[in-house]
Amino acid sequence: PEEELSTVERARDVATEAAQSAGEPLRELHGRVEDVTVKTDKSDIVTEADHQANKIITTIIENEFPDHTIFSEEAETVEGDSEYKWVIDPVDGTGNFAHGNPQYSISIGLLEGGEPVMGVVYVPETDEMFHAVKGGDAYKGEKKIQTSDRSALDESMLLSGWDPDGEFLTHFYQETRGVRALGSAALSLCYLANGSAEGIWEYGTYPWDVAAGVVIARAAGATITDRHGEEYSVEFDSDERKELLGSNGEAHANILEHLQKNEELMR
Ligand code: IPD
Ligand code: CA
Ligand code: CA
Ligand code: CA
Repeated sequence: PEEELSTVERARDVATEAAQSAGEPLRELHGRVEDVTVKTDKSDIVTEADHQANKIITTIIENEFPDHTIFSEEAETVEGDSEYKWVIDPVDGTGNFAHGNPQYSISIGLLEGGEPVMGVVYVPETDEMFHAVKGGDAYKGEKKIQTSDRSALDESMLLSGWDPDGEFLTHFYQETRGVRALGSAALSLCYLANGSAEGIWEYGTYPWDVAAGVVIARAAGATITDRHGEEYSVEFDSDERKELLGSNGEAHANILEHLQKNEELMR
């Protein structure tokens, strides 16, 4: 007889199903978006497709786990205070999505007692499904993925998100093989997880950007901290931006050392 799945494993299966379902309309609308709504400023946008994807994902999760708390970037309210809290970004990289760039993802994370324990990140355009359960391995589809083992900065490729002063980009562009800004923090964490990058810096992430990616990256061998090297924690339903420094583990000390040498770098 088949072994019974734990709640978290069941959650992973439901999350992958929800991500696949939400990916279909996104693929259809990709690059054909006409209705862009500006939220807080010109680079913070949302589209009808974000809301549509959100509805599909939350409906599927609610159906399977009616007692769980569900939080999404595009939800108006949060109800309930369950031990299990879902943290969802229906489209991470809306800018890319609206401009027809394929690098956007669906991010579905689960916290248990405040700890990120399950993550699914799906890339509709390439049909790549990244997933992990805390304590297990990280996967892209059926294939196990792992971080790289490079530690030397001059052999490293880094990823960066929003970098207001451009100082991370400038400094590390000179010290490494390059720094790339993908435009989807969730996807960047998956690239770290599968060894395509040695490190990632995000100056200001929201919990829904990283809740899933952090589980996947850690399961693949990554170290995720703040810029002082303190373990990164996901604050549920916080709308504060938070800095995140991730690496394959091997390069962490080198990146931290550079950050600390340039005390002013991030300010
Ligand atoms: C954004 C992306 C981007 C990151 C921003 C996020 P959104 O998410 O993850 O990579 O640098 O901080 O807000 O708004 O497209 O879901
Ligand atoms: Ca947004
Ligand atoms: Ca996001
Ligand atoms: Ca989003």
